[in-house]
Amino acid sequence: MFNVAILGSTGSIGTQTLQVLENLPGYRVYGLSTNKNVNLLSEQIQRFCPKMVVIGDEDKADRFKNSFNVFTASGNDGLCELAADTNVDIVVNALVGFAGLRPTLAALEAGKKVALANKEVLVSAGHLVMKHRSQIIPIDSEHSAIWQILAGKRREDLASIILTASGGPFFQEPQNLQKVTVKEALQHPNWSMGGKITIDSATLMNKGLEVIEAHWLFDLKYDQIEVIIHPQSIIHSMVKFKDGSVLAHMAPADMRLPIQYALTYPDMQHDTTLPLDLLSLKPLTFAQHDPVRFPCLNLAYHAGKIGGSMPTVLNAANEVAVDLFLEEKIGFTDIPQIITSVVNKHQPINQPTLNQLFNVDEQARKTAVYEASQLIERND
Ligand SMILES: NC(=O)c1ccc[n+]([C@@H]2O[C@H](COP(=O)([O-])OP(=O)(O)OC[C@H]3O[C@@H](n4cnc5c(N)ncnc54)[C@H](OP(=O)(O)O)[C@@H]3O)[C@@H](O)[C@H]2O)c1
Repeated sequence: MFNVAILGSTGSIGTQTLQVLENLPGYRVYGLSTNKNVNLLSEQIQRFCPKMVVIGDEDKADRFKNSFNVFTASGNDGLCELAADTNVDIVVNALVGFAGLRPTLAALEAGKKVALANKEVLVSAGHLVMKHRSQIIPIDSEHSAIWQILAGKRREDLASIILTASGGPFFQEPQNLQKVTVKEALQHPNWSMGGKITIDSATLMNKGLEVIEAHWLFDLKYDQIEVIIHPQSIIHSMVKFKDGSVLAHMAPADMRLPIQYALTYPDMQHDTTLPLDLLSLKPLTFAQHDPVRFPCLNLAYHAGKIGGSMPTVLNAANEVAVDLFLEEKIGFTDIPQIITSVVNKHQPINQPTLNQLFNVDEQARKTAVYEASQLIERND
């Protein structure tokens, strides 16, 4: 029996992980966590009877601690405690953002297998996280696809990888993106996901973060990582080999598949989702991305190639800008503008320590808030 802790069990990946676990013999839910959604956490406690839960938000934790008949911890320290608990075998990191970094390191340092959805952690601190390479299994569908294609292949035969991107809701229109609304940006054509990643998909920053994620997970140079728009989201990624052949991974657009694979790796279980019906598929098409309408992808390549603390800054500025967009304080095209200003002001640190990364992240967030306020003032 494997004990599983789900960090972020009330989110999109977290709830889908619980759906997978309901049908997976040999796996038990040991721990759950939320930031603020204590109502859903309470339902999950009744259904899955965990031994420990964590509430990220300290105020909510103070109010709700005694209402659950289960050991309850709080804050980022609580997440670290759950991640490193001696009874836990697998940690599913379904948190969003830089807040997942310390719990990830706590789990890795305690020797846990980590099924990692929280890509911002690899983007911000890839060199620290990948010291524990053998314990990490990706959940992101593109990286899971590449992971599966590469299984059993010789490394020297690999030429490059091709990450597919749906293109998001604005792939073809409107031409002018400044006036798109939050509601429109949250309408992803193929996936139902949390707010932050849905906006990242619309700006193509999600693909940029995935490029940096792939650099760390598969130890690739940036010129070995290509991106292609594939609006149907059926091919989840591809690998080009040195003889020119390309292997593609195809599956329905359903995150429960890569989640299940990460949990059971290297075993593969029977599928519990609808199988891929090739005869009913729309034609599979491919296109290049438009760097003028969607500058975020190239911004991520730029930050990734500079390396050191620069991707941490890119990520922090993006997190702030996406929050401000979701709060309707800035426009859609202000997101890349803010990130560009913050990245341009940063003097990168090579091989930053964890403390340096926390300082860099904090400073970048302050700079992003300042740049946003200047932009709002100019727009008024
Ligand atoms: N969703 C997908 O299909 C998908 C696909 C591939 C990769 N990913 C990646 O997976 C990660 C999670 O995405 P998601 O879409 O599942 O996000 P989400 O729906 O927003 O869920 C995030 C989870 O983390 C909790 N959380 C957020 N901030 C926290 C904090 N500061 N401290 C403690 N807990 C916190 C949330 O609690 P509350 O419920 O209280 O907010 C929620 O349980 C992201 O890195 C994303 O890029 C997602």
